Amino acid sequence: MVSRVIPVDPFDLVVFGATGDLARRKILPGLYRRFVAGQIPETSRIIGSARTEMDATGFRAFVAEAIEEFLDVKRRDADSVARFLDHLHYVAVDAKGDGGWPELAALIRRDVVQAYYFSVGPSLFGDLAERLHRHGIATPNSRIVVEKPFGRDLASAKALNATLAEHFDESQIYRIDHYLGKETVQNLMAVRFANILFEPLWNARHVDHVQITVAETVGVGGRGAYYDKSGAMRDMVQNHLMQLLCLIAMEPPYRFDPDAVRDEKLKVIHALLPVEPEDIVRGQYRGGGKKGAAPSYAEDVGEPATKTESYIALKAHIANWRWKGTPFYLRTGKKLRGRASEIAIVFKEVPHSIFGDEEGWRENVLAIRLQPNEGMNLSVMIKEPGPGGMRLTEVPLDMSFAEALGEDGADIPDAYERLIMDVIRGNQTLFMRGDEVEAAWAWTDPIIAAWEARGDRPKGYDPGSSGPEDALMLLHRDGRRWREIRE
Ligand code: BG6
Repeated sequence: MVSRVIPVDPFDLVVFGATGDLARRKILPGLYRRFVAGQIPETSRIIGSARTEMDATGFRAFVAEAIEEFLDVKRRDADSVARFLDHLHYVAVDAKGDGGWPELAALIRRDVVQAYYFSVGPSLFGDLAERLHRHGIATPNSRIVVEKPFGRDLASAKALNATLAEHFDESQIYRIDHYLGKETVQNLMAVRFANILFEPLWNARHVDHVQITVAETVGVGGRGAYYDKSGAMRDMVQNHLMQLLCLIAMEPPYRFDPDAVRDEKLKVIHALLPVEPEDIVRGQYRGGGKKGAAPSYAEDVGEPATKTESYIALKAHIANWRWKGTPFYLRTGKKLRGRASEIAIVFKEVPHSIFGDEEGWRENVLAIRLQPNEGMNLSVMIKEPGPGGMRLTEVPLDMSFAEALGEDGADIPDAYERLIMDVIRGNQTLFMRGDEVEAAWAWTDPIIAAWEARGDRPKGYDPGSSGPEDALMLLHRDGRRWREIRE
């Protein structure tokens, strides 16, 4: 199977924060990959921008190093790297002053697509937006790309939206949630809306419950200062896990069109019920305890008394006709036993078994693996082979995208690559609209406020485990169990 690469229109893309971690790890290597794939026209330019004084040669050397560090050797070659570097430019600007802006204004072309990627902290969004206007750089066709965290609560998200709205129309603002750029996440929509098979079963009558797991093996690493003010709820649930929940739960949009899709997601967020305290478990990873052992979360962030969670599990309910009575269990955490993200739709048992009380009877489960080994697995019951009468056994209908799609499957574009190309194409479907982000905070805020008011401390869990014991109880209580976290 050969996938078609459709080149985008020529563009000037300015990456603010070009020397930062995200640009180095994801944005710049991702752009190189799209260039090699033939998606970036030869006349396009990528303009790095940051406070650091540097010339184009310095920036090219910086990008060459980033490509070498973050792309596997099979995915790069010296010749194409050299050709890619020719498209790079650099202008140092001062986000809080006027330095560098006239130079940037002189460089930007007005007759190609212009995009500005704000790969900087949210405190600079307003300054950048304002200066792009004041210096006559942005036009009504320019696009801005903003990263998460988009605020830390409803009030700050509203303030950010208001600031951006002073200078840009909503149709120009691309709020990134990189989970929406993941191949399998989009496949979720294809599976649901391009097949007749699932829709009749996709409701509370047939779905017992849904599990959404995003498990990581890494700790907070060098991001402790940011993470400790945020925690798993703000860092992962308010955005990535909620987006996944929306894609599973939403009604079919009338068209695969940005606002049609986002309208349906928004309705799901509005239909989410407040979460009861007993339906939330927060955890924090412990350390090895001994000298030289792995540090605990508190040690990682340098705050011995911290009450921030590095793990969270919760039960959510959607109050609408389709989902009333089907719980959505969400969990995410750091330093867990595997890096495994999946969505599992667990169906109800058959209403009556004609085979009697067969041992080993299991429900059908549709599991969509986001990472690693992207794919889908549908477990079905069949007869155990052999002459021993009608005994049942569960088998997986397993599809790995890498195997099913051959080379194309193995070379799936990274989320950032896809999303940046969507920005250039002007397609906002996989970006969060302002009202969506606000609604997500409106659901999240009271949950956080309640545990802060109670002074709750997260439960400890061992690194390499599946999370705190209490999280197991969250499902046991309901007669269910979590799926194993397996890489
Ligand atoms: C980021 C979070 O948005 O997503 C990180 O801030 C997290 O804490 C990361 O590690 C996970 O992304 P991925 O693509 O590796 O699953």
